[in-house]
Amino acid sequence: MEEQPVTGDPLVDGGFETLCAHYGEHRLAHGGATAPPLYQTSNFVYPDAEAFERRLLPQSPYYDYTRVGNPTTAMLEAKLALLEHGHWARGLASGMGAITAAINANVESGTHVVAVANCYPPTREYLEQYLQRFGVTTTFVRGTNPADLLAALRDNTRVLYLESPTFGLNEIIELAPLTAAARQRGIVTIFDNSWATPYFQQPLDAGCDLIVHSATKYIGGHSDVVAGMVVGRDEDLHRRVRREAELHGATLDPFAAWLLLRGLRTLALRMEQHQRSGLAIASMLAAHPKVRQVNHPALESHPNHAVAQRQLRGYGSLFSFALHEQSREATHRVLNRLRVFRIAVSWGGYESLATGGTFFDRDPDRPTWLLRLFVGLETIDDLLHDLRQALED
Ligand SMILES: Cc1ncc(COP(=O)(O)O)c(C=O)c1O
Repeated sequence: MEEQPVTGDPLVDGGFETLCAHYGEHRLAHGGATAPPLYQTSNFVYPDAEAFERRLLPQSPYYDYTRVGNPTTAMLEAKLALLEHGHWARGLASGMGAITAAINANVESGTHVVAVANCYPPTREYLEQYLQRFGVTTTFVRGTNPADLLAALRDNTRVLYLESPTFGLNEIIELAPLTAAARQRGIVTIFDNSWATPYFQQPLDAGCDLIVHSATKYIGGHSDVVAGMVVGRDEDLHRRVRREAELHGATLDPFAAWLLLRGLRTLALRMEQHQRSGLAIASMLAAHPKVRQVNHPALESHPNHAVAQRQLRGYGSLFSFALHEQSREATHRVLNRLRVFRIAVSWGGYESLATGGTFFDRDPDRPTWLLRLFVGLETIDDLLHDLRQALED
């Protein structure tokens, strides 16, 4: 089957919601289907031996094998690339598949990475333990001061790995001063944009080189798919990320791509509602006598609120809070009383979730007990009531 060109689509300039609805779907090339066809196939036939012989040339117009490329996945990749203000995107089997492909594409034995200390814990484990086996070392920097991150760069640093808001405390990292300095030194900046999605921020515009997503979260939006994406502008980075994906085999399944295309159609609507409900709950908690601290960057009390207001157009609904009573018992009591919020990992779907545990960042000798909330799409009054009753004596 011939690859569909992504250029020439009439809807390159629409607003975010219009692009989510229509861009890159080439309906008339697919019998006019309004829902994109699912090419659930492992391989593709060639018209003749000459076309087969030319299949590995970059200009070959044919799909070959789904680990390398698939028409359903290509529609998703074209759409997400545009939404993130990138030139290309690559679908992977999970967020971790995307993160490891983006990092691997830029390191080799003897090179060094600088990373934000409170990144998603498996990302940290990958950098700290796994890559060490292959001679790649990482310096983790706590806090949000750009000068601290820049001070950790070395001559052999190849990657600056950022996630904002950070895991747990939802700290916001100011991008512009970091990305400019990294680029000057030939260092690739990788940014995990799962929390904000391109609806609230497009970090390529702030000078990042590669965006990674756990598309399992808001992009999928329905807790029924595990997926990842890498987005960028530079063609050489594209070639290298593709190579990682193809050789490690963490390719996105076409059905997962189809579900993500469906998820994207309502991304803007969902993000508006997540933001509204998240803010209502964060504000209620901030005024609650049992609550010591709410780590939501939209609140004026958040230490990085000013940077957040400058850098983000809006806010995701994953955040944490600390009770005055710092203990396992108090944390578990609240969690066990919740009825609408359910106890589970992950986030970004339709359903509200809660977890709790210790968090060591500020003072390793005095861990903070935090409750992490993901605010879903249920009726806001039900969510407020659920938390209020869980916090009662
Ligand atoms: C911020 C962030 N990045 C990456 C990931 C990893 O994504 P996945 O579980 O799709 O591999 C997660 C998953 O929870 C996450 O929260």
